[in-house]
Amino acid sequence: MSKKSISELFNLSGQTAVVTGGAMGIGFGIVKRLHEAGANVVIADLAEKEGQQKIEQLGERALFIKTDVSSEADVKKLISATVEKFGGLDIFVNNAGIYPSASALTMDVQLWDKVQAVNMRSVFLCCREAAGVMVKKGKGNIINIASIDALHPSQIGLAAYDASKHGVWGFTKNFALELGKQGVRINAVAPGGIATEGVAKMSEPAAAASIDMKEMTKQFLAKIPLGRMGEPDEIGTVVLFLASDASSYMTGSMIVVDGGALLA
Ligand SMILES: NC(=O)c1ccc[n+]([C@@H]2O[C@H](COP(=O)([O-])OP(=O)(O)OC[C@H]3O[C@@H](n4cnc5c(N)ncnc54)[C@H](O)[C@@H]3O)[C@@H](O)[C@H]2O)c1
Repeated sequence: MSKKSISELFNLSGQTAVVTGGAMGIGFGIVKRLHEAGANVVIADLAEKEGQQKIEQLGERALFIKTDVSSEADVKKLISATVEKFGGLDIFVNNAGIYPSASALTMDVQLWDKVQAVNMRSVFLCCREAAGVMVKKGKGNIINIASIDALHPSQIGLAAYDASKHGVWGFTKNFALELGKQGVRINAVAPGGIATEGVAKMSEPAAAASIDMKEMTKQFLAKIPLGRMGEPDEIGTVVLFLASDASSYMTGSMIVVDGGALLA
């Protein structure tokens, strides 16, 4: 394998990346870094207004495609529209996710199913469809945004979420095993507490009547060794590493990006 310079390693020019849930939060942090590295980027999100705004902000090489990642039909459309617009698909980031807090003791089955559909079924659907294109080319790169909750629970009220993120991590490892010889790498990132629109909403009193999320978040924050929440860009730079040739010998791995939270 030829030795590339640092700028060559991180140059994604000519490549096309899809980021699900890219209209805000961690997703947009990822979008910005992949775009800066030269990739064409597709924001696949339900939030139309925010997605369109971000596309305008980025300017060239950017496209918004309204997508519900839990819908098989939407995911198929997303992949075909991406390939049609940019002529291929090289990087796919499964980032869209929801984390409603609810006691598992009283949670209704609809909420359980929704969390599994948006967080885990979507990862299967997007990986299957994206990898289908990548395998034909003999090259591709998938990054799944899991969570530290895929390894260890962070707070009460996230049992459905934690189950879904354990699933994402299990799926990532087995699919990496399946696709290694076909040139497709699949890795995961496990963020800890990252300051996003979704996390801000979680602390609103209406988010979970029976659980004081504000207090739980305060307790979680107090235990983080680096003493602060992370920024979406601090996930964006790690995803850039995984999407680039700087990580060419990595597949089936997880990178924890949590300010040390799992140590506490
Ligand atoms: N923020 C954190 O502290 C944290 C920690 C660990 C893991 N994560 C994971 O990172 C990812 C992003 O989290 P965030 O905090 O940026 O969330 P966020 O709520 O700020 O943004 C999520 C984005 O996903 C989109 N989305 C939601 N459901 C969708 C669907 N069905 N189809 C398409 N798009 C959909 C939303 O419209 C939004 O743009 C999630 O998978 C989350 O579980 C976040």
